[in-house]
Amino acid sequence: MDIQKEIIRITSEYFQDKLDYKKLQQASQEYKSLLNSICGQNMDVENGKKDINLNNGKALGTFWAALCLDDLIRTRKFIRGIDKAIRENINKQKPLHILYAGTGPFATLILPTIFRYSKEEIKYTFIELNPFSFEILQTVISKLELENFNINFVKEDATKYQIDAKNKPDIIISETMQNALAKEQQVSIFLNLMNQVNYKSIFIPEKIELFIALKKAGIPAEETLISHYQNEKKVFEVSKEAMIPLNRLENNTSYETSFTKKQITIAQKELKGFSRLVLLTKIKVYKDEKIEINESGLTVPLIIKDIQSNFEGSLTINTQYKISSHPKLEYEIILNNKT
Ligand SMILES: C[S@@+](CC[C@H](N)C(=O)[O-])C[C@H]1O[C@@H](n2cnc3c(N)ncnc32)[C@H](O)[C@@H]1O
Repeated sequence: MDIQKEIIRITSEYFQDKLDYKKLQQASQEYKSLLNSICGQNMDVENGKKDINLNNGKALGTFWAALCLDDLIRTRKFIRGIDKAIRENINKQKPLHILYAGTGPFATLILPTIFRYSKEEIKYTFIELNPFSFEILQTVISKLELENFNINFVKEDATKYQIDAKNKPDIIISETMQNALAKEQQVSIFLNLMNQVNYKSIFIPEKIELFIALKKAGIPAEETLISHYQNEKKVFEVSKEAMIPLNRLENNTSYETSFTKKQITIAQKELKGFSRLVLLTKIKVYKDEKIEINESGLTVPLIIKDIQSNFEGSLTINTQYKISSHPKLEYEIILNNKT
């Protein structure tokens, strides 16, 4: 079996413009079992399940990082977004440089594309700090006969990684997040890398936004649609536009960074018909590849307060995104009772 052709065949479903959920599920299963079979390790062990806790968030254990592949729409949209960014930026003058921060054990998001280009066309920097994931990645790369490709492997923390000024990446990929940008290191990783590249470098995801929103009352969870949420205010954005120049930080020590505080007041009449205050995560992976609310684990709304139907007053919400050992959007909700 030509394993490279097999990866191209299995993963071709991700590139179909029309989403066929059943076929996508089958492709994802096949992709996963091929990777599991060539990796030669059981990840469902204590060492594999251990997250790495750092002072600016956690890096997922190998077992959990491998499982991300199962988040079907996430995986599909990232693969498609990356492919589109490559097609739009590849050129004959010099090889495109892709930096992938947080590959996990399989470099899941790039493998479907990697065999479609030659080593003269694209060079890669793969960064992964988890030693077990890094070790498996080496095996996978060797089994896939990728040694002749131009890949630089870096076992380092991407929040501290120093880019070689003579070898700046054109495309930077990282999916190191959870919904509401809590717990993991996406913001720290992008902040570090944005600080070192040219403005024209492409970041994937291109934009991550957090919104305070209201959810309509009386809608059962399984019937909830995007239209049942009403955005009130954007409270945080991760993108080049929002972050460069990096002067919007309120406080920046080596481990803790606080972003601009935001305040929002929702008047009593605006609360009518809504039963919950939530935090929404929107992800623009690249151009029209967007992950909508509830399409992935990354965009599941986070409930921050139930609103009693007899509440007569307004709400004030103070928010601030903070990077610490538990990065998250911090918030305070003040109930202004009617007087
Ligand atoms: C959510 S998993 C995603 C795995 C794979 N890229 C995917 O999308 O399916 C994130 C990976 O990034 C790695 N990671 C997290 N923080 C990192 C950091 N600061 N430096 C390098 N790798 C990191 C974790 O160890 C984990 O393997």
